Amino acid sequence: MNAHYQIAPIPQLVSKTTAEPALRPSRPTDVPQRTRLTAETVAYQGKYQSLDAARTYDAGYEQRRSRTTIREKEILHALLARYESVTTILDAPSGGGRLTATIADHADVILEMDIATGQLLLGREKRFDAAHQIWIRGSALDIPLGDDSIEGAVCVRLSHHLYSQQERERLLTELLRVARRFVVFHYVDGQSPRYLFRALRSRFSGGKGRRNWMTRDEIRTVVQRHGARIIADVPARPLQPHRYVLIERSG
Ligand SMILES: C[S@@+](CC[C@H](N)C(=O)[O-])C[C@H]1O[C@@H](n2cnc3c(N)ncnc32)[C@H](O)[C@@H]1O
Repeated sequence: MNAHYQIAPIPQLVSKTTAEPALRPSRPTDVPQRTRLTAETVAYQGKYQSLDAARTYDAGYEQRRSRTTIREKEILHALLARYESVTTILDAPSGGGRLTATIADHADVILEMDIATGQLLLGREKRFDAAHQIWIRGSALDIPLGDDSIEGAVCVRLSHHLYSQQERERLLTELLRVARRFVVFHYVDGQSPRYLFRALRSRFSGGKGRRNWMTRDEIRTVVQRHGARIIADVPARPLQPHRYVLIERSG
């Protein structure tokens, strides 16, 4: 592994109660500390390990899906604008830094975390000076930071690549464990018209209906377990299944 991506103990970011970078149990006890990963997730984690694969992902958004990025940036801006004087935001997964410029408008330091070395290399290539960036190779399902160690976390476009409910809940739980003020969490809404139609179609065609979506109730359950609350739940566009939920941990 490239030495740049080793996780260095950053004193103000690790748990106060242990000298080591903390991998302590999450606050709620009903989520197992180790989540058994599905084969799909293991495969997906390997997808962007090369710089070429990361560049292909990035080019796809710049060429074919630029409007999606513009819209996502608008939503992120609107949600993050509620918070002033934010020092550190975790962007997990960061990918190649597609949303970095937007997050940089709202924090002094961005922790860019991804499981894929290729994405982190791309992010470093595209680095810019607006905010201090730190790149960490790690899993968002086991975030190598202590409880409440950062102010905010942003998680865009990972949960719908996870095909078990346990993994998706684990992801949200980890974000809520490390972020003491707020979390922005992207999910695909299983109750949106498109996904309700898919579920119906799959029932009649006898398809397996692999599940990568969440319901608002599932999100609310995890959020309430942390004593947090949902402040906003915004669709990418009206009736779109892609949604961005803003969760606040402190008043
Ligand atoms: C669709 S991309 C989204 C990246 C970025 N948030 C964006 O919106 O452009 C999903 C990213 O998740 C990363 N990833 C997959 N599993 C992960 C995990 N367990 N922890 C952290 N990153 C992961 C992939 O390497 C990939 O870069």
